[in-house]
Amino acid sequence: MKEDLMRLKEEAIQAIDNLQNIDELNSLRVKILGKKGELTQILRGMASLSQEERPVIGKMANEIKDDLESKFSEKMQILKKALKEQKMQQEFVDVTIPTKISIGSKHPLTLVMDEIRDIFIGLGYEVVEGPEIELDYYNFEALNTPPDHPARDVQDTFYITENILLRTQTSPVQVRTMEKQKPPLKIIAPGRVYRSDAVDATHSPMFHQVEGLAVGEGFTMGDLKGTLVKFVQEMFGHDRKARFRPHFFPFTEPSAEMDISCIACAGKGCRICGYTGWLEILGCGMVHPNVLRNVGFDPEKVNGFAFGMGVERIAMLKYGINDLRLFFENDVRFLKQF
Ligand code: PHE
Repeated sequence: MKEDLMRLKEEAIQAIDNLQNIDELNSLRVKILGKKGELTQILRGMASLSQEERPVIGKMANEIKDDLESKFSEKMQILKKALKEQKMQQEFVDVTIPTKISIGSKHPLTLVMDEIRDIFIGLGYEVVEGPEIELDYYNFEALNTPPDHPARDVQDTFYITENILLRTQTSPVQVRTMEKQKPPLKIIAPGRVYRSDAVDATHSPMFHQVEGLAVGEGFTMGDLKGTLVKFVQEMFGHDRKARFRPHFFPFTEPSAEMDISCIACAGKGCRICGYTGWLEILGCGMVHPNVLRNVGFDPEKVNGFAFGMGVERIAMLKYGINDLRLFFENDVRFLKQF
């Protein structure tokens, strides 16, 4: 029995020394020192021992048990420490290695809107905003647009209910502003607008406009032209040509459209400008007396001018972009050029 115990001890120590894994160490401990373990197995034979032998073997068995216990916990500590060190190695981060940080850039439409904003702020305009989900009243009725006007057609307008729609223009902000502010006032209103158009190189069901409105005493068409020509020069450089064509808008009288010479073809004619050499960038006119009346102003005392421009068109001209869809696809190869 003595030999059995000695052999058990020797074998156990060797097995412990060879183990490299915490789970295996635990199972080995159960296998040797557990209730049904090898040591208990051997001690079962104690019953057949003589009176003298029993305490000697008992003492020896206890010593072996103690020795092995401490051997196990010693090894356990070594393995735990090794595991911790291995983890530290794996999770090590060298904070001194320089990292490549890619910084985003402003969207070209944002850049252009910011620029338009800055030009008009420089001219004394205040920036205001209005809702994209709008009442028919503000989008059409208050803007002197009769119920049978083609712009009200469901083919052009996204209706939500009979009276609620997605604004087709930023012009409703004119009315909302005049309801709140008394003249003299000069505002621009940038924002999204919606029209039920099929997508192509020059159309999108959502695009951006910047509205402008100046109301006060004694404004003339000359003030309108002067302001917009100044804008074109600031935006596109002093050689850029601008022209005004008579036009019709229900909410301005007289009305005009302003074109600038096409940047893509320098006026020769191309796909972008529809082979005319000119690109329409905005609509404008003197505020219609009915619009002033609708907000409680007296058209005999105050008047003004208004304009509305397409931001995508201006951005296309400014950066020589030939397809409007590029603005909305958000391909970083496109975006990072600005
Ligand atoms: N709202 C008009 C449009 O979307 C533009 C415009 C604004 C025209 C202000 C005249 C005055 O086409």
